[in-house]
Amino acid sequence: MTEQQFIPLKYSNAIESGRYTWSSPSNIALVKYWGKRGNQIPENPSVSFTLDACKTTTTLSFSSKEDHSNFDFEVYLDGQLKEDFKPKIETFFKRIETYLPFLKTFHFKIETVNTFPHSSGIASSASGMSALALCLMSIEKELNPSLAEIEFTQKASFLARLGSGSACRSLEGDLVVWGEHNEITNSSNLFGMKYPFEVHENFKNYHDTILLVDKGEKQVSSTVGHNLMHNHPLAQERFKQAHENLSKLINVFKEGDLKSFIEIVESEALTLHAMMMTSMPYFILMKPNTLEIINRIWAYRKETGSHVCFTLDAGANVHVLYPEPEAEQVYDFIANDLVAYCQNGHYICDRIGFGAKQLPI
Ligand code: PMV
Repeated sequence: MTEQQFIPLKYSNAIESGRYTWSSPSNIALVKYWGKRGNQIPENPSVSFTLDACKTTTTLSFSSKEDHSNFDFEVYLDGQLKEDFKPKIETFFKRIETYLPFLKTFHFKIETVNTFPHSSGIASSASGMSALALCLMSIEKELNPSLAEIEFTQKASFLARLGSGSACRSLEGDLVVWGEHNEITNSSNLFGMKYPFEVHENFKNYHDTILLVDKGEKQVSSTVGHNLMHNHPLAQERFKQAHENLSKLINVFKEGDLKSFIEIVESEALTLHAMMMTSMPYFILMKPNTLEIINRIWAYRKETGSHVCFTLDAGANVHVLYPEPEAEQVYDFIANDLVAYCQNGHYICDRIGFGAKQLPI
């Protein structure tokens, strides 16, 4: 697959106006994407669990306009006009214009709602960009009804990636791979794909309780963080390690090897943060309570033999991952021992999910 293949031929239909709604989940990477080049091309492959409860629902209303010289849109979050969201969407539209030539021919109203609070420290870019990309693809499908389902999903993921890299992993479930990997046929740097191999029962219905340690705005955006991987002295080794960890996970998923799963996932989380700490300029996104939680998880695991583990994204919040049969005990542990380290005691109970859904208009 090349970028060229996502440029549409002439559309067979014409439309005046319409409205689509898609709901798209967030995702949590197990092997992390950190470092990119060119047009949102990842420096290494990644794999994620699709989430279920943390999601964005976006309604895109559109009507044709006379003047085709500019993008014309307004954005609402929870019913409130958000002028400050416009630059990010303008950049997204510029990046995808070649692939969706109708963008300047419509006026768009984008109405978006998240199930998680905007100020929770949970990035809404993955769920938000994928929901928007899917709405735009619904328009394309109306303009070109012959578009096959696989082409629809691939192109939606391709577009979502151009909005925010990890967004391309938010369309399907329950495990998604993004980035070329030599053991995964058809894996691509251009879009995410459903993990194609066997997954053991142990990973079905996996839980992710997100402990909200710090709900503030990130001090360093992921764009800045990714860019600091250029000229990073440890970058090449890190990219190699991500390939190796994904190779190891293939067997772990097949065998249901929870012990190795924990080792890889926690190492990936800490390596991500180690990359931040060894960038120039360096930075730390973990907070004291992030470390408290990690230490308590380790102590609990040692004491009980539980298979609970943690992962982190580019922030201070902790994703606590655990298998379904242990859910009750781990939940008690979280409620009794970990919630005290969350800002205002806030946390979100989520689990592995199955991807985006179109909602009736
Ligand atoms: O999609 P971005 O550019 O916000 O980057 C996300 C990076 C991490 O969340 C830290 C890792 C990942 O693979 O999702």
